Amino acid sequence: MIPLPLDELRGLGDLDGEGEATGLTIDSRTAGPGDLFVAVRGGRAFVADARKRGAATLVPDDEHAALAAIGRALRSRSEARVVGITGSTGKTSTKDILAALCAAVTRTVATRASENAELGVPLTLGRLEPDTELCIVELGMRGFGQIAELCAIARPDVAVITAIGPVHLELVGSIEGVARSKAELVAALPEGGIAVVPRSAELEPHLRSDVDVRRVGEVDVELSEDGARIAFADELIHFPLRSRHQAQNALTALTAYEALGLPLERLQEGADRVELSRWRGEELALPGGGIAINDAYNANPTSMRAALEHLAGLGAERKLAVLGGMAELGEHAARYHRELGTLAAELGIEVVAVGELAREYGAPTWVPDAPAAVAAARERLSPGDAVLVKASRALALEGVAPALANAH
Ligand SMILES: Nc1ncnc2c1ncn2[C@@H]1O[C@H](COP(=O)(O)OP(=O)(O)OP(=O)(O)O)[C@@H](O)[C@H]1O
Ligand SMILES: [Mg+2]
Repeated sequence: MIPLPLDELRGLGDLDGEGEATGLTIDSRTAGPGDLFVAVRGGRAFVADARKRGAATLVPDDEHAALAAIGRALRSRSEARVVGITGSTGKTSTKDILAALCAAVTRTVATRASENAELGVPLTLGRLEPDTELCIVELGMRGFGQIAELCAIARPDVAVITAIGPVHLELVGSIEGVARSKAELVAALPEGGIAVVPRSAELEPHLRSDVDVRRVGEVDVELSEDGARIAFADELIHFPLRSRHQAQNALTALTAYEALGLPLERLQEGADRVELSRWRGEELALPGGGIAINDAYNANPTSMRAALEHLAGLGAERKLAVLGGMAELGEHAARYHRELGTLAAELGIEVVAVGELAREYGAPTWVPDAPAAVAAARERLSPGDAVLVKASRALALEGVAPALANAH
């Protein structure tokens, strides 16, 4: 980490330590000499442990405010360009793809997994080294003002918005609200900054004339068993990605890479190294043939539609989808579930619905939980079939596809 004088942090709470911090952690088990351990979420109980391991410790008066102050201090000492990524779907995937592309050619730090909120953003900045050239930060949205707050810490030079769709409607009311909240990232850019955005009528009113706006159209991709070939800058770039929606994220990442002025002739190097985070469309072999797609990380109407269309396009004899509900859709929840239930039926996909919310899909088969879903799917599957498993995070269906893949 960029060395941070501990004296600067004295006003933030109860500080124990001298000199400079050269690492930042909220987990005492990873703390060592030179690190600063910040006690958040019950971390107070581990202060002594962190001290024993040689770390300085801070018990903050206000967890978020303290981490924000540390994040801001690191950001202001860094010469890295900062890319902020937000959007209603595909943030983590786009971040993973862009990080792989950039890391091949420039010293890059990127958000780990989906650590995209008040703790995760400062922790990402806590991994900046003095020679880091690029920092890619995922920014989550849980209502109006949150992205603005995170931007006040990370101060992005480049804004990437992956998509504007119906997500967190309980908090922002409508697609216009989604666009307005995501556009806080564009508003945070300095004059002359860069914005990579989807073509979205709702977003247009929020774009700025003093910012270099690059609109990402629909991806031109050839999908096959061995991945995705994406047309970009007069070349075909090969990615180890299997679905059209991930190829769309790759196009967004490619557009950001080009906007950063990084060398186009080295794109393939990074593309070869792309690896998505867990449970985003992982393919597992079923016993006797066929595949299980573990897309259980999360679900909203946009990603559910994309996943169902991907499943339908696989050309398997029989297509089964084990679907939990989509959370946080507010008053529109029932309608979105019904629409996707209808889409599944139109695509020839048999649905096993899991959990209360999922009753609204109107599927003939309903089960209460993950173990029952495994049993119901096993009963229905034969060799050569394809099964998709997808739900909002709260359902925790990530064990279902592996259970099916290991079944005998
Ligand atoms: N462009 C896209 N269009 C539709 N679905 C997508 C797209 N990108 C990713 N998905 C799907 O959406 C889900 C979440 O993907 P990802 O984790 O990349 O998004 P996220 O925006 O970071 O989510 P979160 O808000 O939970 O952090 C996965 O199931 C993934 O397959
Ligand atoms: Mg994410």
